[in-house]
Amino acid sequence: MGGGWVRIALGSDHAGFELKNKILAYLKKKHDVHDYGTHGAEPVDYPDYALRTCDAVVSGAAVFGVLVCGTGVGMSVSANKIKGVRAALCASPETAKQSREHVDANVLVLASSTKDAEKITDVFLNTPFTQAERHVRRLRKVAELEAPSRLSSLRAREVLDSRGAPTVEAEAWAGQWRTLAAAPSGASAGVHEALELRDGGKRYFGKGVTKAVRNVNSILSPSLRGKHVDARALDSVILSVDGTPNKQRIGANATIASSMALWRLQALVEGKALYALLGDARRMPCPAANLINGGMHAGNDLDFQEYLLLPVGARTFSEATEIVSETYRALKGILEKKYGRGATNVGDEGGFAPPLKDAEAPLELISKALDEAGHAKKAKLGLDCAASRLLKGNAYVVESKKYAPDAFADYYASLAKKFPLAYIEDPFAEDAFGEFAMLTKMLGSKLSIVGDDLLVTNTERIKTAIMGSACNALLLKPNQIGTVSEALEAGRLAKEAGWKVVVSHRSGETDDSFIADIAVGVGAEFAKIGAPARGERTSKYNRLLRIEEQLLAR
Ligand code: PGA
Ligand code: ZN
Repeated sequence: MGGGWVRIALGSDHAGFELKNKILAYLKKKHDVHDYGTHGAEPVDYPDYALRTCDAVVSGAAVFGVLVCGTGVGMSVSANKIKGVRAALCASPETAKQSREHVDANVLVLASSTKDAEKITDVFLNTPFTQAERHVRRLRKVAELEAPSRLSSLRAREVLDSRGAPTVEAEAWAGQWRTLAAAPSGASAGVHEALELRDGGKRYFGKGVTKAVRNVNSILSPSLRGKHVDARALDSVILSVDGTPNKQRIGANATIASSMALWRLQALVEGKALYALLGDARRMPCPAANLINGGMHAGNDLDFQEYLLLPVGARTFSEATEIVSETYRALKGILEKKYGRGATNVGDEGGFAPPLKDAEAPLELISKALDEAGHAKKAKLGLDCAASRLLKGNAYVVESKKYAPDAFADYYASLAKKFPLAYIEDPFAEDAFGEFAMLTKMLGSKLSIVGDDLLVTNTERIKTAIMGSACNALLLKPNQIGTVSEALEAGRLAKEAGWKVVVSHRSGETDDSFIADIAVGVGAEFAKIGAPARGERTSKYNRLLRIEEQLLAR
């Protein structure tokens, strides 16, 4: 307004009559004012004069309205109900200025007791609405918040995993909605896994992922931007852009981080829980907790990579977690007493890494811990042998003893007799479908024979294994195949064949808990999520505890 000419509609009730007249006298000097208010201190029906004053503003007869009344509270509330009126109750020049600048208020409401009423009125009338642009931008954002149905951006960056190596984190946006997801990384990765793209060279001991990050930013993002946030459809675009069976062009670390961020984004946009978008099983898995680490995950001489605790007798996931945690604690005490404090250092997946070589000792130790914790009746044991790394020539070597495949199967059978084993993962090398089948025939009715490096979450390999009855359970690791859709398809195939599904972390992890939601969505029997220690492991336990709480509250 800048001090220019304005027409002002002025009104008051009997309580504000005196102040109104004061303002009228003041404004008349500079402005064209029409007094719609009372002409004396007689009681009037206040909606009536308020309406007339506000009407003048709405109809354009006046640019501004000024209302003076008792406390002003009731007045501003009722005036604001009139379409086209934005009434602000102002008590100082500063609030008057803000009401104009930010809200574009067109009716000033003053309480009859207001000091500096003339000054406040001046500031109100002379402050232009400077926030028009911001206002429009805000409205646009609000509109986007309501319907962010298209992918506005996909970006990636290098972050660290739990071994201090770089990994890909993807960030997906739809309007103002953002999700993050990070790729995990295996140490004992199978040779048939999709390609994990690393930079090589000196930087980060060759493990940099800047190429993978660039592939997200400059190849995937332009192909996906603007498309509907339909994760399955976006996964198909990723697959066709990569165009190789093993994600050789883009890198499976780039594709899986992107895919996970996109699935998360769809869940967010649709207001669904992630597990509900991933499948409708809504079943809590039993944790498969790696309590003693060996193989490539620990600096000890244990040949088998993982000694797992399976609290299969627990009725809920939270009870299972309790059993895992209490047994882990008991085990710590036992190790400390027997081998000294150094034996309680932990390996990559949070399990203890005692200086042992004897392959049976960890099974004895965990059984003892179970007894001590009082949970022996509720739990079974499991092994991940990661046997590709035990194969030397034609024989498997454990504790420096060589076993031909048949003898190795007998060895497993003897372990299953001696201990409450319910689970053996990768008992033979990654291409030994026949050897797997031999063991499944021997022990499959009682134990889960789980294919990890053998199957690499790859539907073709799973079909081969189903045909040859090579195992009876799938280890499902999304980053082995590179998109969530393909991982879900692997899970579906396994279930259809009557197999169990074990959704699994990797030895290199981040705090991303995506796999917890996959486990619940696909109805996995087990979630292999490490020991109940280290943030990147507990993030999965904690996510599952939250999901169970949600499911039980229904
Ligand atoms: P990895 O180990 O993540 O190092 O491959 C996990 C497993 O073998 O199950
Ligand atoms: Zn494994």
